Amino acid sequence: MTLLIPTAGDGQFLIEELAAQGLAASDAGNGLLQCESLPPRALLAFCRQSLPQAQPIHQASIRLWAEGLCQHLLQQLDDQSPWQLHLWPMYGEGRAGLHRCELIADALRELLKKRRRCRLPLQRQAPAPEAGILQGLLLGPDEGWISAASPKLCDDQRSLLSPWPGGWIAPAEDKQAPSRAFAKLVESLDRLHCKIQRGEHCVDLGAAPGSWTHIALKSGAWVTAVDRSPLREDLMAHPRLRFEPGDAFSHAPPTPVDWLLCDVIAEPQRSMDLLVHWLQKGWMRRFVVTFKFRGHAEYGLLERFKQEAAALCSDLRLLRLCSNKNEVCAFGTTALQNGSGC
Ligand SMILES: C[S@@+](CC[C@H](N)C(=O)[O-])C[C@H]1O[C@@H](n2cnc3c(N)ncnc32)[C@H](O)[C@@H]1O
Repeated sequence: MTLLIPTAGDGQFLIEELAAQGLAASDAGNGLLQCESLPPRALLAFCRQSLPQAQPIHQASIRLWAEGLCQHLLQQLDDQSPWQLHLWPMYGEGRAGLHRCELIADALRELLKKRRRCRLPLQRQAPAPEAGILQGLLLGPDEGWISAASPKLCDDQRSLLSPWPGGWIAPAEDKQAPSRAFAKLVESLDRLHCKIQRGEHCVDLGAAPGSWTHIALKSGAWVTAVDRSPLREDLMAHPRLRFEPGDAFSHAPPTPVDWLLCDVIAEPQRSMDLLVHWLQKGWMRRFVVTFKFRGHAEYGLLERFKQEAAALCSDLRLLRLCSNKNEVCAFGTTALQNGSGC
């Protein structure tokens, strides 16, 4: 059984998204869903984190939590696998839950010292896409869920098994950016474990006032920005920026570029078609594209997009990001570029 954490308030949309793929889900309480195991590389835009082979734990003292986690770690991951511990509370206010998590983590460390010391140096403290994930979700001090996923399973489910606890990434801050929209690009790049590199070429469609362009220029990239309106004045004067006034949907790059960035305000189907067209033409190696919805009725459009785009990508992610409003972000690596990450 896989436990799913929907993106904020999106439980019903996640149920519908699963149903569209022939997967039944049921309520697991506390806003969580449960379903049978998911096919490899499943894409669920409204799922922020998954806990594969999750097992409930009840009446657990700190020692029992640590014991359960230790058993899952030793059973599901081998002695060579790097791993991360995600232990977080979904109850109460203040620090009580976090404090309990710290005590459980300490108790787990002590158990491992006695039982399998060789696992300790393999624990990664920062998000590490190559690591397995041991998860403990506390719904109260003494009840919750435990799950462990091997590095292979994490790779197979990379769109649904985030190396951030609970799949949560706090929206980034940048006081120099001309708008808050940059946080969507930063979060997508974090999730891809990829940075825009110095000297790369980005096309930014619907670029004004320029916060995505600002991030790309700050990384040392060259940017072709397309919009009907100009970007902020200092960006327009930047030596690595070329501004093209006009329609984002008729832009065709003369040679393939490293990144397609697109945050244009348009009907979601138009933005999906634009991305599929760029993928079919082989015009970019990587991409971050937002689909902006007005209500909920058009979420079903995502299903055809998934089928069309997955075949053209080596790594496709689709998610309502922590920094998205009523948007879903598609980001990833095209089939032109082998593998994922940078
Ligand atoms: C949400 S804003 C983009 C924000 C930008 N990513 C940033 O970080 O500053 C959407 C932009 O799309 C532009 N836009 C809408 N339709 C367009 C079209 N057909 N062609 C070019 N730009 C368009 C608007 O002018 C607007 O500047």
